[in-house]
Amino acid sequence: MKVLVIGSGGREHTIAWRLAESKLVNEVICVPGNGGTAHEAKCRNIDPKENPALANLSLNDAACTIAKSEKVEFAVVGPEDPLAEGIADALWNAGIPAVGPKAKGAALEASKDLSKIFMQKYGVACADSQTFTDKQEALAYVRQKGAPIVIKADGLAAGKGVVVAKTLEEAENAVEELTANLGEAGKKLVIEEYLQGVEISVLAAVSVTEESAANGKACIKAFLPARDHKRLMDGAKGPNTGGMGAVCPLSDVTDETMALFEKNILQPTLKGLISEKMDYRGFIFFGLMLTKEGPKALEYNVRLGDPETQAVLPMMDFDFAELCQSIMNGSLDSFEMKWKTGFQVAPVAVSGGYPHKYAKGKAISFDNSKIENAGAKIFIAGAINDRRAKTPVLITNGGRVLACSAHGSTFDEAWKKAYEAMEGVKFDAMFFRKDIGLPGAAESN
Ligand code: AMP
Ligand code: GLY
Repeated sequence: MKVLVIGSGGREHTIAWRLAESKLVNEVICVPGNGGTAHEAKCRNIDPKENPALANLSLNDAACTIAKSEKVEFAVVGPEDPLAEGIADALWNAGIPAVGPKAKGAALEASKDLSKIFMQKYGVACADSQTFTDKQEALAYVRQKGAPIVIKADGLAAGKGVVVAKTLEEAENAVEELTANLGEAGKKLVIEEYLQGVEISVLAAVSVTEESAANGKACIKAFLPARDHKRLMDGAKGPNTGGMGAVCPLSDVTDETMALFEKNILQPTLKGLISEKMDYRGFIFFGLMLTKEGPKALEYNVRLGDPETQAVLPMMDFDFAELCQSIMNGSLDSFEMKWKTGFQVAPVAVSGGYPHKYAKGKAISFDNSKIENAGAKIFIAGAINDRRAKTPVLITNGGRVLACSAHGSTFDEAWKKAYEAMEGVKFDAMFFRKDIGLPGAAESN
């Protein structure tokens, strides 16, 4: 069968690669895809912007048009923005099954206020918080609570909507700045108790429909725990980024912690999705803080994490296309998720200057024997084919350029292989963290 993947990042390259590995799948259409999916076996990119018949359509309409003309069996939606815009609703309405929540479920990420109301209503372990629409009331609350305190803009703000304020002055400035600078996204502020601990990410498959809720088959299944490393520099220092590398699983996360997560976060979330009558067939991402009182939810994302996906999906010892089918047809409860033993480490190479100003269009060279010897897989994020070149060359086209993802039976082996592969990748002003997964590298406070 043919399947569709929506998105253009490293997460989508990884999803497309996993789908292409399935014996059920003949072709993966990537809309728009990137320079990685362009060269991936069984994958083909279609960029609506480059097709006159599609260029003026919304992404929802373009995706439906492509899905129908290519006769795909189903679509997997990678990023949150199209989900918030109702792409899953549009696909299902057009008769195309989709992996990704409909807009009502996607609002759990699109609005922090809504996600906190949901967590509190269904008893999901999380930080205490209050929401404000009035700036003066927000300032009064911050002064009453004191620092440290966390100020969050309600809406999607491309990673710029959260300030962890260590002093009252920082907190007051954050209230002023988030309301002044973020437009609609900053109209409401969620002000949250500061949680101390170390962060992890747990991704999960979700299959909730009215029918499965009624017949008891509604289901949520967590993947192995993973960790992103969001700060630019070694030792979790420097500015926040979209993610500098990921590892999966985590030796510092005990079975007891995962059992607490299941009881206090995962199952209450499932109960909430069922009670709210959401049609949620897709993935959910739990950003967690491991506190002294157990794991607490920092956020929901309504998609797989990036770059967590680049470390988690290679650990799957089952057919990803079959998992997608079980999510859509309501049989996730009987789907057995088997995992490889060992570890996956995936450091990310970025363009020098990122997350601030950086150059694009730099040619990337790959020493394939080095990469193959290391047994690593390169997942492309911000790179495209250079159209001017006679032989295929990838050029950088974004801040986060690629991840080198490697498996090992021990963490040390996986780590060594990933970094050996990284030595086989070169581009002008390339930068990467050298400590992904090592002690002291995790985000903590
Ligand atoms: P969020 O988008 O809500 O996940 O927040 C972004 C980052 O801010 C998280 O990854 C944490 O590092 C930090 N953060 C968010 N909420 C809290 C909190 N209540 N306490 C401490 N740090 C937080
Ligand atoms: N790695 C964090 C995210 O995908 O939001």
